Amino acid sequence: MYDRNGERYLDLLSGWGVFAIGRNHPHVRETLKQVLDSDFPNLVQMDVSALAGVLAERLLRYVPHLDKVFFANSGTETVEASLKFARAATGRTGIVYCAHAFHGLSYGSLSVNGDEVFRSRFGPLLPECTQIPFNDLAALERALASRQVAAFIVEPIQGKGIITPDDGYLQGALDLCRKHGTLFIADEVQTGLGRTGRFLAVEHWGIEPDMVLLAKSLSGGQVPVGAVLLRKWIFDKVFDRMDRAVVHGSTFAKNDLAMAAGIATLEVIESERLMQNATRIGARLLGAFEGMMQRYELVKAVRGKGLMIGIEFGGPRSLKLKASWNLLETASNGLFCQLIVIPLLQDHKILTQVAGHANHTIKLLPALTLSDADCDWIERSFDAVVADAHRIHGAVWTLGKTLVENAVRARASS
Ligand SMILES: Cc1ncc(COP(=O)(O)O)c(C=O)c1O
Repeated sequence: MYDRNGERYLDLLSGWGVFAIGRNHPHVRETLKQVLDSDFPNLVQMDVSALAGVLAERLLRYVPHLDKVFFANSGTETVEASLKFARAATGRTGIVYCAHAFHGLSYGSLSVNGDEVFRSRFGPLLPECTQIPFNDLAALERALASRQVAAFIVEPIQGKGIITPDDGYLQGALDLCRKHGTLFIADEVQTGLGRTGRFLAVEHWGIEPDMVLLAKSLSGGQVPVGAVLLRKWIFDKVFDRMDRAVVHGSTFAKNDLAMAAGIATLEVIESERLMQNATRIGARLLGAFEGMMQRYELVKAVRGKGLMIGIEFGGPRSLKLKASWNLLETASNGLFCQLIVIPLLQDHKILTQVAGHANHTIKLLPALTLSDADCDWIERSFDAVVADAHRIHGAVWTLGKTLVENAVRARASS
């Protein structure tokens, strides 16, 4: 990214994961222009859209155990569709979801959101949605035992905090779902399309979900789109008669530009070998941050797969740093990460984000096109900022003082 003075920035946030193939990719732009110039009969609604057929076919090549694709306009719409399909297909009403989950902010997806900050003031939400801890198979078994649960919805790697599943968790969860007649929905809106080095993150654990949700980067960073990949029998339970052909859908879903953006995005992922790049560059970055964990006491953990990486900070052992850390965290839980995020942007032109409310994890979700030169830039900059955070008289803690004063002022006036 460049600002108006032509200054170059490295964007490790990528529009919350939208720009997996980078911004303004020429192949996506050319494809969209071609579609406009072709004057296709877009959105006839009574038709079978050719471009939707092509995109569906190409998506299913990556996920051969599934048979059908239902298109939507966003991530949250794919979640809504999957919850409705699960209820219709199973004749059950319950939905189980995980603490800290994020699946979007419309009413169905908000009802399976595991963060109170998003839910509060908007209730009542959908009934019969049960929250369980992530990585807890015993809790899942208890929740499913009623045999009233239509679906378990889960992000293979949780975006809030970059929480990775324990080995055996996702397979165990799938086995429990099978045992209790519950559908397994993998929300791959953030993790999908090569982000973690595989087309789907679930592939790392050999899981075959009943429904897979995609959105974000399928848009090519240009046209909003979402896709639910699912088993035929589930689809057929919903759309089983002509008069039910319209029981779920949306006016703009399957529009030609969205479908073309999706097709072009898949072509770029293949031709530029972005999944392979995510694996290689991701491993390099993980290694570099693990090295920092050895050198810096404030760096507590490094998690992730491919180019979805979380760097967790935590309270220091040494007394001199402890007092400053406590002051910040008492003023506002999670404030410390701003001491890293702000100088990274101001001094090093690197855009990052904190991975959730009251969170100590900084999240990297860059374009999958990241190069070794970009990694040099990232490693050099993080090292400088984190080293400064360990110097009690460093510039970072002068900023910390300002942040504490602001937090205290904000609290006093609220
Ligand atoms: C895992 C996951 N699911 C669903 C969504 C919702 O997608 P959208 O913002 O397109 O509605 C998000 C958005 O961040 C997400 O990360």
